[in-house]
Amino acid sequence: MGRLLSWATIGTEGGFWLPSQGSEGAAEVDRIFGFVFWVSAFFFLLIVALMVLFVIRYRRRPGREDAEPSPRHNTPLEITWTTIPILIVIAIFIWGFKVYLDINTPPANAYEVLVTGQKWKWLFTYPNGHVDENLHVPVATPIRLVMTSEDVIHGFYIPAFRLKRDVVPGRYVKLWFQATKPGEYQIYCTQYCGTGHSDMWAKAVVHEPGGFERWLEDASNFLAKMSPAEAGERLYGTRGCAQCHSVDGKGGTGPTFKAMFGHQVPLDGGKATVADENYIRESILEPQAKIVAGFQPVMPTFQGRLKDQEITAIIEYLKTLK
Ligand code: CUA
Repeated sequence: MGRLLSWATIGTEGGFWLPSQGSEGAAEVDRIFGFVFWVSAFFFLLIVALMVLFVIRYRRRPGREDAEPSPRHNTPLEITWTTIPILIVIAIFIWGFKVYLDINTPPANAYEVLVTGQKWKWLFTYPNGHVDENLHVPVATPIRLVMTSEDVIHGFYIPAFRLKRDVVPGRYVKLWFQATKPGEYQIYCTQYCGTGHSDMWAKAVVHEPGGFERWLEDASNFLAKMSPAEAGERLYGTRGCAQCHSVDGKGGTGPTFKAMFGHQVPLDGGKATVADENYIRESILEPQAKIVAGFQPVMPTFQGRLKDQEITAIIEYLKTLK
């Protein structure tokens, strides 16, 4: 029975059907899950067992063609089988509602990270303005996530933290958690949001004490530490360009970047333009201004999301893709 129970309540290392617990709230969520599961299993077995027993015991057989006379009511029995399930259901509601409120009420001193869902990438913005493709957090620190979407509904999901919330364009939703041990945990998107939905992955990286501050310092200064083309390659990978634009000539939602810079680009409507610095800058800030022939006008604007220095770095990177 101990083994069976551990399936539903689960140690921190994960178990038969739940991933490992990476946050303080995870254990509580699992306890409710275990309780609901075992209550359901108990009544399922009880009802099926009684049903089978009665079917066999009161079956029709020679000499017992008619139903036996039986009482029409048994008030104490009826009150019992009504009251017990009501009490259990009320307990599940109160317990579940309490945990729901806990998950949705961040402590006042929580460290805030902005989460943006876009086709097809999660972006995490830190208080100093650094934007990253992964969620980095310090261990044992309450983290508040303020989340929104740039385009369609995405579903933010970290199974190890038992956190899941839809992000909707035009509004902000909040979640919070406190990671219990350093490590890397998978983040998924759980709303079907288009072609790249199943690639909309990110990592939650929980740092040792002190490690988060070092990482943030290091990550924020990459523009100063790298050449513009190197920084541009990094931005290409981390800001959502790579989801739609290949660099090796492969097709995608958007045109490939391979050998694009300096060449003629055929545009929707029959015209053409040369892919120079100004064209690339315009396509990043006003993607609908010039649509490449054969592609849909689906790219979101990066106005306000990429600094001038970053746009320049991306342009320098595109120049290297011969
Ligand atoms: Cu975003 Cu699915």
